[in-house]
Amino acid sequence: MNQPALSAQWIGDEHGHLRLLDQTLLPSRQVMLDCRDVETVWEAIKMLRVRGAPAIGIAAAYGVLLARVDGNSADVASADRLAEQVAAYRKAADYLATSRPTAVNLFWALDRMRRVLDRPIASIESLRHSMWQEAVRIHEEDRQMCRAIGRFGAELIPQSATILTHCNAGGLATSEYGTALSVMFTCAEQGKKINVYADETRPLWQGSRLTAFELHAAGIPTTVICDSMAAHVMQTKKVDAVIVGADRITARGDTANKIGTYGLAVSAKYHGVPFYVAAPSSTFDLTLVSGKEIPIEQRDQGEITKPYGIPLAPEGVNAYNPAFDVTPAELITAIITERGVISPVTEREVRSMVGSS
Ligand code: MRU
Repeated sequence: MNQPALSAQWIGDEHGHLRLLDQTLLPSRQVMLDCRDVETVWEAIKMLRVRGAPAIGIAAAYGVLLARVDGNSADVASADRLAEQVAAYRKAADYLATSRPTAVNLFWALDRMRRVLDRPIASIESLRHSMWQEAVRIHEEDRQMCRAIGRFGAELIPQSATILTHCNAGGLATSEYGTALSVMFTCAEQGKKINVYADETRPLWQGSRLTAFELHAAGIPTTVICDSMAAHVMQTKKVDAVIVGADRITARGDTANKIGTYGLAVSAKYHGVPFYVAAPSSTFDLTLVSGKEIPIEQRDQGEITKPYGIPLAPEGVNAYNPAFDVTPAELITAIITERGVISPVTEREVRSMVGSS
């Protein structure tokens, strides 16, 4: 079984470093990237070496810890060193927040790290320890949220179901197990036989490279399809559910996820297929009501015209490359969270499920 490694690991104690699995090289190579400075983490998030909303948040939280000032020399007054360290952590958090704009988990995790800096602090060592503990908590909580999402989601899936998914909302996109894929892994654990269609997910193939990799390794029968085939598959084959992850969900349930998700939801509605979003409470942004307010990341045109350096469009032609789209709440049958299932997807239901911490 060719199980992928964990997407992010912290090596050592508060003085340690971050180890990421470079997801751009999957499925052919599993290469670990050791990050010992904030810039390397920023680049890894920007270039999708680590990707998926929860995993980005986890990597960024650990990334802040790498903004270390020399706290051990005895010649500088300890209060000055402490102030310097607080400022360095804040600067790192602000910088990491500029890496990608859409997944709210990034900002959620960085805000949690900033809140540690707002507490009374006794010494530079206790500050570093508290920051490290907070990052570890963010990581561990995600693991538990993913498992709970799987349990709630599996209740919605009948025996012998065929599920269609888009992009990668698996262990690689989270601490482990995933959100949408957690539902599938849990079904398999419960002995339900499921089949999965994985959209390849252009332009960066997270579906074929990552989702198919994870499901195949877990022994779940998986068929990769081009994104353009999804409607045809719903029309001509038995598809019992679509399950996807999310990058940001507003108070009314409008959901940003990988480009192509919206089209899938329209098609699912037309074909009478339930459309489920699986996401932890850290993916909700209750400061926004309409999905129109969600910032959509625009990425380099070369990802479309020259992927992996291979020219697939005429030199100089324009390409449009929004990384995400927004699915309106009315197309979503239910949102599966770690606290329970939100259905119908309305502002009232969303706020009552995830409105309190
Ligand atoms: O650009 P990516 O690969 O970071 O996009 C990821 C997605 O759209 C996922 O579906 C989403 O982050 C949910 S991950 C549990």
